[in-house]
Amino acid sequence: MERDGARMGRAPAVRKEKGSAMTTLLVTGGAGFIGANFVRFVLRHRPGYRVLNVDSLTYSGNLENLTDIEGDPRYRFVKADIRDAGAMATLMEEADAVVHMAAESHVDRSIMDSTPFVQTNIAGTQVLLDAVRKSSRAGRFLYVSTDEVYGSLPLEDKTARFTEETPLAPNSPYAASKTGGDLLARAYHHTFGMDIVTTRCSNNFGPYQFPEKVIPLFVTNLIEGRKVPLYGDGLNVRDWLHVDDHCEAILAVLERGRAGEVYNVGGNNERNNLELTHAILGLMGRGGEMIEYVTDRPGHDRRYAIDASKIAGELGWRPTRSAWPDALRDTVEWYKANAAWWGRVRTGEYRRYYERQYGPG
Ligand code: NAD
Ligand code: DAU
Repeated sequence: MERDGARMGRAPAVRKEKGSAMTTLLVTGGAGFIGANFVRFVLRHRPGYRVLNVDSLTYSGNLENLTDIEGDPRYRFVKADIRDAGAMATLMEEADAVVHMAAESHVDRSIMDSTPFVQTNIAGTQVLLDAVRKSSRAGRFLYVSTDEVYGSLPLEDKTARFTEETPLAPNSPYAASKTGGDLLARAYHHTFGMDIVTTRCSNNFGPYQFPEKVIPLFVTNLIEGRKVPLYGDGLNVRDWLHVDDHCEAILAVLERGRAGEVYNVGGNNERNNLELTHAILGLMGRGGEMIEYVTDRPGHDRRYAIDASKIAGELGWRPTRSAWPDALRDTVEWYKANAAWWGRVRTGEYRRYYERQYGPG
């Protein structure tokens, strides 16, 4: 019945466990940047939810991101790979809804080797969708997609924005693999009537972001007295959203979004990379001499800009934590205050990646 309801586009509530007032959310990738912030956000704002965090702990997954909630009776961590069909089938029997955000997430790494991107972001998503389809318990499935599925906007047309109807035109192997997962989710809704919703969000910032992404990379480099590697002419534009605003949007879509629908999520906070870099330098008390212009990223998308009027109009979501300079300052301060966290991350495999990407230095 519920699956028929989903096909008709009605919004079924996120299910509760039979005979209980509790809902168990299975979150994939909950040890990563957005995942850890989302798990914490749910436990803080939804007393009726339990969280089952499933993560294989790749280089970007880190249980240190979650030490403060380890002992929470509403939280459980399971180390498992989303490509493991047997493990996913077992876990689905404990889940009322799934928020799928496990992924290989870094564009530059996808340019070095796209294999794990295809395996996790496409094949892994298919395994999860089949596990939900066959489950006697799991209901709604939310796919955390990205604005990168839409490709790139020209710099010249300042009014152009991605809407949910913009044709998909991914440009990097990462974006193509996320588009593969996004389209599989669409197809499983269409073919099997599964209750699936999708979010496509712009660039996130905030605490616990792996320091290969531009903001924590630049801040931690500056703390270590290193220059910041700015790609190309620095004029590429991103739309920055605080991770907690993204978490709130995910919950809004999970709980009230219409089945089969896609919702764009953005901060209405466009900055080019040069502006971003100078803002960070200013907050760190440094000047333009710390910028090192380096070879551009191959196929570098010029501009992302999100039209988030659908989620605002239908679900009443708006960003409330992303305003600059305060939100950026708080984020910079978090990295300054948590040098032990990123100090442990910026070793071993990270150093090898850094040298390969930027050269010795
Ligand atoms: P992240 O790299 O910090 O975290 C990814 C997590 O997924 C890690 O904990 C990793 O261990 C886990 N993982 C990877 N492969 C796995 C596998 N095969 N099985 C189980 N776990 C696996 O990424 P993030 O920045 O937190 O992004 C989370 C999601 O949000 C991704 O799906 C990404 O595409 C999407 N997204 C990110 C942004 C952004 O700005 N960071 C914006 C929009 C959408
Ligand atoms: O738009 C959403 C996407 O945002 C997510 O889907 C991705 O998972 C997430 O990684 C992010 O992708 P970007 O490629 O935009 O993020 P990144 O932090 O890698 O780069 C942001 C901008 O900064 C981009 O224009 C490239 C530039 N950059 C990045 C690095 C790492 C530099 O100039 N120098 C750098 O060293």
